[in-house]
Amino acid sequence: MSILVTGGAGFIGSHTVVELINAGFEPVIADNFSNSSPVVIDRIEKITGKRPTLYTGDVRDVAFLTDIFEKENIESVIHFAGYKAVGESCEKPLMYFDNNFISTIKLLEVCEKFGVKKFVFSSSATVYGIPETVPLEEGMPLSCTNPYGRTKLVIEDMLRDIYKADNSMSIMLLRYFNPIGAHESGLIGEDPAGIPNNLLPYITQVAIGRLARLGVFGNDYPTVDGTGVRDYIHVVDLAKGHVKAIEWADKNTGCEAVNLGTGNGYSVLQIVSSFEKASGMPVPYDIKPRRDGDVAENFCDPTKAKSLLGWQAEYGIEKMCIDSWNWQKNNPNGYNN
Ligand code: NAD
Ligand code: UD1
Repeated sequence: MSILVTGGAGFIGSHTVVELINAGFEPVIADNFSNSSPVVIDRIEKITGKRPTLYTGDVRDVAFLTDIFEKENIESVIHFAGYKAVGESCEKPLMYFDNNFISTIKLLEVCEKFGVKKFVFSSSATVYGIPETVPLEEGMPLSCTNPYGRTKLVIEDMLRDIYKADNSMSIMLLRYFNPIGAHESGLIGEDPAGIPNNLLPYITQVAIGRLARLGVFGNDYPTVDGTGVRDYIHVVDLAKGHVKAIEWADKNTGCEAVNLGTGNGYSVLQIVSSFEKASGMPVPYDIKPRRDGDVAENFCDPTKAKSLLGWQAEYGIEKMCIDSWNWQKNNPNGYNN
């Protein structure tokens, strides 16, 4: 029996495919490479000794999906495919609704047709909107501050409705906090197109000399040192959370939202300092104005992931920084070497 992994060539998808193979599952990747490279498939094979089956195409294309479900014995689906840049979603909301929302509808229609009832969805901490209190628990109120976040919230709502209509489904809504790090082989990692929006890829590109200086967005938040605090999680821990989610879906029915984070918050300056220590590279920075839409502090209560899935993050910030740097150092231009 196989697991369809949409977006399996992307940052989180590729690490999840590795962990699925390590756990004895048979992942089948569907990806259109709109934000990834086919080289990833070679790298996964190098790490695991197994080449995952690949279908190149668009998840919005029902004929493409139907072909996969006809050829492969798909038992469950992990749906990563989608766009994820908050700023871009504000400029091109339709593009985000089309790719994120429509792809999920089409995928669920094909799942229904083929009787596939186990569905793991990539949600995000962004569904908590601007939190009033931290740590964030799954039962807290949901909202969104941008079109990207709205696509995640609408899809979560849709999946809750789908479960209400069919109680034999197993649906897992995984709310990721801030994934960073890379596989420790240095063969797969995060490879953002253009100038990175997120903190860690920006820092590693400053350290490698592709960018001159980091801009720190605000140092007047009510936090430990005035800079924004986030719950960074090693992408390999996150990937292992998906293996646990699939194991849960194999044994249970239900629709559950689960936070995947460490429960620890680190400020931007704490991350800069940890990274400098881990890499031995200086990261010069300037304090800039706050970035629109940013919150002061955001970290999760990971209790539910432990009690429901038996999962908790293993890696700390030092390992996250070491592995992020190892990936960047070995692949100064990402997959485009
Ligand atoms: P990514 O861009 O690296 O991976 C997404 C993959 O999906 C890419 O390989 C891309 O080519 C593919 N894809 C996009 N649209 C497609 C389509 N229509 N058909 C087929 N393939 C398509 O992103 P990621 O960081 O690995 O994120 C994966 C998922 O997790 C996304 O849904 C994202 O919103 C969610 N998420 C990511 C983060 C994060 O910080 N990276 C945080 C929270 C949630
Ligand atoms: C952002 C998105 C979030 C998305 C997540 C993963 C916004 C407002 N939020 O989260 O919806 O789920 O990415 O893709 O875009 N920082 C700097 N300088 C930089 C970059 C970041 O100081 O060049 C700071 C930010 O202000 C923040 C922290 O670093 O305090 C983390 O930022 P980032 O990596 O972009 O993640 P989030 O903003 O938490």
